Amino acid sequence: MEEKLKSLAEEAKQEVEEAATLNQLSNLRVKYLGKKGHLTSILRGMGSLSTEERPKIGALANEIRSDLEILISNRTRELKHQEKEKRMASETIDVTLPGKPFLMGNKHPLTKIQQEIESIFLGMGFNIAEGPEVELDYYNFEALNLPKDHPARDMQDTFFINPEVLLRTHTSPVQVRTMEKTVPELPVKIICPGRVYRRDDDATHSPMFTQVEGLAIDKRITFSDLKGLLAVFARQMFGPDTKTRFRPSYFPFTEPSAEVDISCVMCGGEGCRVCSQTGWLEILGCGMVHPRVLEMSGYNPEEVTGFAFGMGIERIAMLKYGIDDLRLFYDNDLRFLAQF
Ligand code: PHE
Repeated sequence: MEEKLKSLAEEAKQEVEEAATLNQLSNLRVKYLGKKGHLTSILRGMGSLSTEERPKIGALANEIRSDLEILISNRTRELKHQEKEKRMASETIDVTLPGKPFLMGNKHPLTKIQQEIESIFLGMGFNIAEGPEVELDYYNFEALNLPKDHPARDMQDTFFINPEVLLRTHTSPVQVRTMEKTVPELPVKIICPGRVYRRDDDATHSPMFTQVEGLAIDKRITFSDLKGLLAVFARQMFGPDTKTRFRPSYFPFTEPSAEVDISCVMCGGEGCRVCSQTGWLEILGCGMVHPRVLEMSGYNPEEVTGFAFGMGIERIAMLKYGIDDLRLFYDNDLRFLAQF
């Protein structure tokens, strides 16, 4: 019996050492130490032993059992370690490999121009104000000195939602809303960027476009403040040699009103195809805020004055980048957008 046990121990030891996987090891544990295992079945025959032999064999069996337990658990640890090493080796990352290139987006040209315009006016002390694109007839027209049947409403062909609600045709309603909120505080110095809507559609007009309008109200504001401000704006936007020219014009909400031209960005004023040989390009409308408009928003036109101006961002962008079709801005064609 002793012999049997010893050779069993030898055999088990060898098999454990040779086990290559954790699975094999756990099978070996069942095979030798389990309830139906070899060691157990040898010990079952102990009944036939003499009283002297029994404790000796019992002790030997226990020793073999505990040796085997230790062997198996050592081997288990070893195998686990090996497996981990293998996994670590296969999962190493070479941080020196070149990375996957990713496409970096860029700002839409209209966003770029809008931000450029904003930063010029922010630099001159203006704040940015925003308002709703779905607007009341009152703010879009009436409070701007354009009563319901006024013929100048034809200058802005309008999408009406119902007789009192419309898609704003300019960002001037934001100026009215801001005046109402600010009155009687002074000064008011805001620019209003945003989308506006008119029923136009051709190479230079779109039913949806973007504007930046400006408003300044304070005591003793004059037309020369307006001229100076817009001259500075034109030079910062289009270059230090840019000249400005004011032509008389008409808007119901300003009096007097003017249209502002800059010297042609292409020929510098010589005359070319872009400026139709005139040397000048129209960029915006402006004027002194009409007393009626001040009054309707709660300011006293005897005490304060103000100026306002408005420009289309698309037009500024077309002039600055030399783009000849406005619809390119809305086509989302990457061949176009990637150029800016
Ligand atoms: N609101 C005018 C437009 O969209 C532009 C403008 C604003 C003109 C302020 C004068 C003063 O046509």
